[in-house]
Amino acid sequence: MKVMLFPGTFDPFTRGHRDIARRAAKLCDELVVAVMENSAKTPLFTIEEREDLIRKSLSGEELKHIKVMKWEGLLVDLYAQLNCCAVVRGIRSESDFRYEAELALANRLLNPGYDAVLLPCRDDMSLISSTIVKEVGFYGGDISKMVPAEIIDVVKDKFKKGRKQ
Ligand code: PNS
Repeated sequence: MKVMLFPGTFDPFTRGHRDIARRAAKLCDELVVAVMENSAKTPLFTIEEREDLIRKSLSGEELKHIKVMKWEGLLVDLYAQLNCCAVVRGIRSESDFRYEAELALANRLLNPGYDAVLLPCRDDMSLISSTIVKEVGFYGGDISKMVPAEIIDVVKDKFKKGRKQ
């Protein structure tokens, strides 16, 4: 069985992330979306909230082939544990490509069996990022084109609570 891993901070999961997950799921028997920590980032949503938002964004049918989990260790350790054939990551720009190439090289140093598949994003999703969602959402702007409809209320609620603190 070919298992592919889609790791990320997903703070929060965007329509761009969902598109990558859906396309990647067609390339393997099982796709595992793993919510992780990035030491360079301080997430707005807890790891459990992020995991929950991803599940809410996918249909019951999709969840038969796409597993969602959290992982607080090294990416290569989960990769080995799940016996993955590749990691999948979406790229929107040349700078994304550079970052992903470096991440893949570093991970391959840790595990020579590591491989990565980079999927170019859809052109209408090239400007969507979790960072932009947080910036627009914090100031009460319209995030409906950026975030799956299924989670928009939960995401908006988080921004409202954040503004009251
Ligand atoms: O969505 P992001 O923030 O670009 O995802 C980056 C992520 C979470 C995939 C990366 O930071 C990661 O793999 N974190 C787990 C710890 C790890 O293995 N780091 C890479 C060592 S080279």
